[in-house]
Amino acid sequence: MKAVGLKRYLPIDNPDVLLDVDIETPVATGRDLLVEVKAISVNPVDIKHRKPDRSNADTVEDPPRVLGWDVAGIVVAVGPAASLFRAGDAVYYAGSIVRPGGYAQFHLVDERIAGRKPANLGFADAAALPLTTITAWQGLFDRMGISQSGADKGKSLLIIGGAGGVGSICIQLAKKLAGLTVVATASRPESAAWARSLGADHIVDHTRELAPQLQAAGVPEVDYLFCANAADRHFPAFPVIMRPQGKICSIVDAPNAADFTLLKRKSITFCWEAMFTRPIFQTPDMIGQHDLLDATAGLVEAGVLRTTATSNLGRINAANLKQAHRLIEGGKVIGKLVLEGF
Ligand SMILES: NC(=O)c1ccc[n+]([C@@H]2O[C@H](COP(=O)([O-])OP(=O)(O)OC[C@H]3O[C@@H](n4cnc5c(N)ncnc54)[C@H](OP(=O)(O)O)[C@@H]3O)[C@@H](O)[C@H]2O)c1
Repeated sequence: MKAVGLKRYLPIDNPDVLLDVDIETPVATGRDLLVEVKAISVNPVDIKHRKPDRSNADTVEDPPRVLGWDVAGIVVAVGPAASLFRAGDAVYYAGSIVRPGGYAQFHLVDERIAGRKPANLGFADAAALPLTTITAWQGLFDRMGISQSGADKGKSLLIIGGAGGVGSICIQLAKKLAGLTVVATASRPESAAWARSLGADHIVDHTRELAPQLQAAGVPEVDYLFCANAADRHFPAFPVIMRPQGKICSIVDAPNAADFTLLKRKSITFCWEAMFTRPIFQTPDMIGQHDLLDATAGLVEAGVLRTTATSNLGRINAANLKQAHRLIEGGKVIGKLVLEGF
């Protein structure tokens, strides 16, 4: 089958960074689905796993390593223990970081972390959603314990990185499901307009101090904070801008020198969300990702949530994937980049 793979871990300007390759088509066993990949989207995690660093400088991948953890496609075969899907079903999912990714014509995924594709979205628009939705959903509802059904209505949330892939769905979940007052960071007119169009009530610029801007917006302290970017830069503001007994969820690394004791006086909870935890550790509640993707499909079909795809870069090949990686490395992507067909 056709795929896009890497043999060496190289910087994006190296012509061999991503290669069009031919590799063996995998076979579904156990609870796996074999999916014909129709569309994918690209995430910063793809870049993290492609970039050169000390640990991979001398590594040569043979067969080539396939990245890519956002897929929409059609099930073509199922393993003997699979029971949730059958051949012909349209699915969307992020998959598992400890397995090969979806830059390939055919791909294996455990059915417990796949959902049915929203019927009213094409494959490219659907591929934009899974990884970021799982991240935002688990961060808001599972880790911070925010009510999905409106019991926390009117409480406030600050999203750092509001216009990015995660922020774009996080704004929608927080506004449309939880009924929170949403403050999102955005540093440019176009990213601010995008965040507003998704439901953000207030925009603050992450390149300037957050506390005075929150004061000016009439939300001097927030109940919840979802950190999807630059925790190192913004951490010192957290003890100031959080309400007593508030909750912070970070999906990005905290600074080495972060003094968590500063959160003690206000009894602020700090928690992590890593969306691959369930598939990596095969946790007993792994099927929660299937359930949340199915619930998301229903919400998209009902018009409550919308796709976050903003740019279709064309066919799934090395040239177009290099462009996607280059754009994400630039740190200015609004919404999600998608690619479609081989
Ligand atoms: N833990 C997990 O499970 C998990 C899951 C998904 C993603 N992540 C991580 O979360 C981060 C965000 O992912 P993403 O897909 O949303 O990325 P993305 O789409 O590439 O984010 C791009 C956005 O980041 C904003 N941004 C750039 N620099 C910023 C800064 N210093 N402070 C605040 N915002 C800034 C930009 O907004 P402006 O243009 O307005 O400046 C841009 O719109 C990545 O590091 C990713 O690896 C973690």
